[in-house]
Amino acid sequence: MSILKVARMGHPVLRERARPLEPSEISTPRIQRLIDDMFETMHDSQGIGLAGPQVHESIRLFVAGVDEEDAGMSPVVIINPEITPIGTEVEEDWEGCLSIPDVRGRVPRAVEIRIRALDRHGTPIAMTASGYPARVVQHETDHLDGVLFFDRMTSFDSLTFLEEYSRYWTGKET
Ligand code: NI
Repeated sequence: MSILKVARMGHPVLRERARPLEPSEISTPRIQRLIDDMFETMHDSQGIGLAGPQVHESIRLFVAGVDEEDAGMSPVVIINPEITPIGTEVEEDWEGCLSIPDVRGRVPRAVEIRIRALDRHGTPIAMTASGYPARVVQHETDHLDGVLFFDRMTSFDSLTFLEEYSRYWTGKET
């Protein structure tokens, strides 16, 4: 496995709409290796999610989650996702992005969502997610449409560098 270069904000690949993966493509060594490399890259950068476009692959694929009890989300591979909100409840909370290093901001997201996608074997999966995992899935799915978390913020008042986040914002609810 190897650690991939992460595209940073400003790279055009982050603003493209990524193409769906053909089911026959998913089992190829190239895609299987890419998935393993994306997990390794995400762990190396201590992220909770990483989407294809963030490693210069404009395809509808992301990995998310960490295999640790306190990580809040188990590892998943999501391909060609379709997500729909369940209900109308929206919650604002902090997000960061490996493509926008050392910046945090509060982003409104649907609290509960339904996900239909393919897994790394090309098998259709359907599930629901709520709270933190639902937020991560929405953030990563946005990457597949060329959308960054700034685009979802309703106000930039909470936009902060990591150092100022630690100094002024940690633990604050609003
Ligand atoms: Ni991101």
